[in-house]
Amino acid sequence: MLSHLWNSKKPLAVLGAQWGDEGKGRVVDHLAEHADYVVRFNGGANAGHTIIVDGKKTVTHLLPSGIIREGSKNILGPGVVCSLDVLRQELAIAERCKAQVLLDRSTPIVHSIHQWFDAARESSGGIGTTKRGIGPAYEDMAARRSVRLGDMTNVNKLRKALTDSHYYRERAAASKAYSHIDLPPFPSLDEVIHNIMSYRDDVLPYLCDSREIVYTALLREQKVLFEGGQGVMLDVFGGSAPHTTSSLCTAAGISATFGCYQFGAVIGVSKAYTTRVGDGPFPTELKTDLGDKIRQHGQEFGATTGRPRRCGWLDLIALRYAVRMGGITHLMITKLDTLSVLNWVYACYAYKFENKKLHHSDTLTSRVLREAEPLWSEWNGWNDISHCRKIAELPIQAIEYLRFIKTVADRPILAVGVGPERHQVAV
Ligand code: IMP
Repeated sequence: MLSHLWNSKKPLAVLGAQWGDEGKGRVVDHLAEHADYVVRFNGGANAGHTIIVDGKKTVTHLLPSGIIREGSKNILGPGVVCSLDVLRQELAIAERCKAQVLLDRSTPIVHSIHQWFDAARESSGGIGTTKRGIGPAYEDMAARRSVRLGDMTNVNKLRKALTDSHYYRERAAASKAYSHIDLPPFPSLDEVIHNIMSYRDDVLPYLCDSREIVYTALLREQKVLFEGGQGVMLDVFGGSAPHTTSSLCTAAGISATFGCYQFGAVIGVSKAYTTRVGDGPFPTELKTDLGDKIRQHGQEFGATTGRPRRCGWLDLIALRYAVRMGGITHLMITKLDTLSVLNWVYACYAYKFENKKLHHSDTLTSRVLREAEPLWSEWNGWNDISHCRKIAELPIQAIEYLRFIKTVADRPILAVGVGPERHQVAV
């Protein structure tokens, strides 16, 4: 369906163009059919990528969504932070599906100290994280004190990584700041080591130098597909701090970790409406029955935490900003069918901010997102579209809606999701 994108002989990338949960998994699944390698480049087990094949739902959190395809080669890159319990579960999925997995030996491990601090901070007024230890793991990465998958080869190496520069002592001392909160005991050093080493046999057979593999593959003009976690609006630099995740969710995340600066296409995936989980400003949020209706019909509950997602109309200003910040060249619109139950559909085409229309070059800071007043365009609704396989077959109102998205976001739309199954796509 999208296989012509490989003609450029350059790598392809799939990014979330909103606040995560856009349906990237299914786009990766399509493109993975012809890829030599599928590479997850950012985030960790905070993500949830759902793919439905013949009614069977598979959710991956950490390994690339490619693992459900027989014969595929899937890489976990060094910019991902790796939760070992989730890794073990997903290695089992890959084995069942007869897919190959390669883990970069520099990939930082998310260990129990990270999970402890994430939970502690969330218990005392956090930002609504997934409590998977992602933020603390990236903090350690930036502070040059990560424990890496390669440290699992030898228990002494692992102990050294956890104690160098007084790492463990310092973290244990910092944990005292939360002594007034009812939390599980802070893990002892031996517990941390024992827990990590209990995954040793799962991990060691798959260790590799993924940058070498990707570089060589690109020199040979093989097909490399990069898969992002979360979405550009949650990017640690481009998102609205502090309500972001801790990794690079833009194409820069690929460049930073793989030294790859040219792409055949950077596909931004956006739902036909907007959702967000966790705290943070959300200009087009619907806090009404309509929001509930979209949530129920779109089954908008977190794939990782089960939390109900906040729902709202499509925010084209945020999408346009994500296109610009993410390096997005093309769009894929998912879940257009969810809107089929509505009589009217709205989208935000501009923000009023400080009594003026926000200029398209302005940065979407937290303050802008918090204070923005959306200006709306309106369409009549449409009926069931789940049978459409061509965009031209869609009802005229839906086609006009897509045209409007294309015009405001200023990017071509490659395909549109009209139902949850692999084949329910209109091109
Ligand atoms: P963290 O990434 O767990 O630290 O969470 C930081 C923020 O990012 C919170 O608002 C989370 O809800 C949000 N977040 C992280 N991963 C995802 C995702 O895959 N989808 C949607 N939101 C996410």
